[in-house]
Amino acid sequence: MKTISLLIVLLVCVTIVIGGKDYYEILGISRDSSPSDIKKAYRRLSVQFHPDKNPDSKDKYIEISTAYETLSDPEKRRVYDQYGEEGLKQGHGGGGGFDPFDIFANFGGFKFGGGGQQQQGGGGMKQRGQDIELDIEVSLRDLYIGRTTRVTQKKQILCTKCRGSGAKKASDVTTCSGCKGSGIKIKTQQLGPGFVQQFQTTCDECGGKGKKVTSKCPHCQGKKVETGEETYTIMIERGMIDGQQIRLEQYGEEAPETTPGDIIFKIVTLPDKHFKRVGENLYYNMSISLLEALTGFSKEITHLDGHKVPIERVDVTKPGFVLKIQEEGMPHHSFPSQTGDLYVEFTVIFPTEITSQQKDDFKKLLKE
Ligand SMILES: *[C@@H]1O[C@H](CO)[C@@H](O)[C@H](O)[C@H]1NC(C)=O
Ligand SMILES: [Zn+2]
Ligand SMILES: [Zn+2]
Repeated sequence: MKTISLLIVLLVCVTIVIGGKDYYEILGISRDSSPSDIKKAYRRLSVQFHPDKNPDSKDKYIEISTAYETLSDPEKRRVYDQYGEEGLKQGHGGGGGFDPFDIFANFGGFKFGGGGQQQQGGGGMKQRGQDIELDIEVSLRDLYIGRTTRVTQKKQILCTKCRGSGAKKASDVTTCSGCKGSGIKIKTQQLGPGFVQQFQTTCDECGGKGKKVTSKCPHCQGKKVETGEETYTIMIERGMIDGQQIRLEQYGEEAPETTPGDIIFKIVTLPDKHFKRVGENLYYNMSISLLEALTGFSKEITHLDGHKVPIERVDVTKPGFVLKIQEEGMPHHSFPSQTGDLYVEFTVIFPTEITSQQKDDFKKLLKE
């Protein structure tokens, strides 16, 4: 008898899980994916299935957005993990109305340029985590042709097992009985006969959180966070300048009840063997022989991307002479089709010795 009722309960549970949609499957990610994996998957799919691109995929897009909306919210994700889609519908997670076309607009994504004001996505009064600032070393060549690079970095993330609740199971988080969830205790003090003063204090039983964890998450020992590793894909765009910042919004360290800060990569240009950059212009030193200085020459410079720039002179080239070659400099970051110029400065290599015969010949040749 007991076994049968247990079986029925089990069957009901299984039906609920099967009946709901698998948000992880929709986003093509595993159940222990980190928030930024979720974000990445959503970013990729939402671009692919955005109705602006193909109107037939509207349903798919809504499905993706709904999955993301749930899994990107630690609280909703916890409810979903435990109760499935039904759990969310039954209001375990709270939460209000949601328009999938709205988050697309809110999606911060990559932003270039210094500073920038932080926009809060209407999420209420959540605390904001600290930004992480990192230098990223790039060659002048990378800045000339642009490239995508990957950086792996350790950071604090929400515990992947309890999603930041610190509890073993969702049911291990209970409302504090000392303050009934308010986080505040009202105390009274007798000041004198007939005089009673009431005052509020932070609840000492829950530390003002209003909740208590009865059984700690064994994975993080109730700390709610762990150290994780994340690989960032960074776009080095053509013409970016030294010191320029690449800001990945909300990819910073994670903490409970906190909106992650940003991760900011600062470009540090590595010195190049041949070229120097000043603003949008490039500088190059070229050595020529005395003969070439006097009679002219035809040479070439191998540019940062490997293309050849012909350098020709028919006139006399004095030491220190600077030749300007238009539009062979760095691309402008905002308009990569526009480029600066290339300045070639000449050094004349003089012979270290000269024979008496050559001396006489030169004298004859150069006599005025
Ligand atoms: C060219 O040579 C001068 C003198 O040695 C040096 O100051 C300058 O930085 C060099 N420029 C480049 C582009 O290497
Ligand atoms: Zn309390
Ligand atoms: Zn945990």
